[in-house]
Amino acid sequence: MKDVIIPLWGILASVWQWHQSIAVVGVKNDYPKMGNKLHPQEWRGIFMDGHPVAYSRRVITELMVPSYANFGGKVHGGTLMSLMDKLAYVCASKHAGNYCVTVSVDNVQFLQPVEVGEVVSLMGSVNYVGNKSLVVGIKVTAENLQEGMSKHTNTCYFTMVAKGADGKTATVPPLVLESEEEVRRFCSALQRRRIREEGVAFMNHYKSSFNNDEAMLNVLSDERCVLAIRPD
Ligand SMILES: CC(C)(COP(=O)(O)OP(=O)(O)OC[C@H]1O[C@@H](n2cnc3c(N)ncnc32)[C@H](O)[C@@H]1OP(=O)(O)O)[C@@H](O)C(=O)NCCC(=O)NCCS
Repeated sequence: MKDVIIPLWGILASVWQWHQSIAVVGVKNDYPKMGNKLHPQEWRGIFMDGHPVAYSRRVITELMVPSYANFGGKVHGGTLMSLMDKLAYVCASKHAGNYCVTVSVDNVQFLQPVEVGEVVSLMGSVNYVGNKSLVVGIKVTAENLQEGMSKHTNTCYFTMVAKGADGKTATVPPLVLESEEEVRRFCSALQRRRIREEGVAFMNHYKSSFNNDEAMLNVLSDERCVLAIRPD
C-alpha cells in the first residue's frame, strides 16, 4: 500500500506545480491590482526575454560651471535639456541594445532655477516600453554643496524610438517590472501616451474644422489678444 501512496503523492504534487505555473502566468493581466503578491523572481519567470528596469538605470552628475549660465546668471534651460537628452539616449539604448532617437518630450517644466556652482544630478530609468518606442523618466535635482541643500528642479519623460543597423525602427525588449513603483510608472506612462494620442487627434480635428465664426470671436473676447486682421 505504501508503495502505491508515494508515487500517487508524487503525481499529485506534479499536478499542483503545473496548476500553479498556469496560475502564475494567468495573473499577468491582473498585475496592476497587486493583490497577489508575487516574488520578483516569479515575475522574472513570466517576462524571461526582457530586461529589468535596473539594467538600464543611470545617473549623470555634473557641476554647473559659469559657461552654462544665461544672461540672468542662472543655468540655461537648454543646458539641462541637453544633459537630459544624453541620459535618455544612454538609458534607452542600453535597454534596446540599439541606437535610439528622441521623438518627443513630455512635462518639461523648470520648477526652480539652477545656480552656477550647484551640482546637478539626473536620474534616468526606462519607465515604459511599447513595440518600438520607450519612455525614459528623468528626475533632476540640484545640490548646493556648501549649504548641503538639494532641490528637485524637474521631472520629464523622453519618448525614444529604437533603430536597427539598417536604419529602420526596431522592436525593443519587454520591461521587467520588479516593484510596485515600477508598475505605477509603467501604468502612468500608458496614461500619458493615451492622453497624448487623444490630444493629437483632438487638435487635428480642431485645426481642420477651424473657422472664424461668431463662437470663436466670443471665446477670444475674453482673451488678451487684439484682432487686427487685414483683408487680403
Ligand atoms: C521616430 C520616427 C522614426 C518615428 O517614425 P514613424 O514612421 O512615426 O514610426 P512608427 O509609426 O512605426 O512609430 C514607431 C513608434 O514611435 C512612436 N511615435 C511616433 N511618433 C511619436 C510622437 N510624436 N511622440 C511619441 N511617440 C511617437 C509610435 O507610437 C511608435 O511607438 P510603438 O512602436 O511603441 O507603438 C521618426 O518620426 C523620426 O525619425 N523622427 C526623427 C527623430 C530624430 O531624428 N530625433 C533626433 C532629434 S533631431
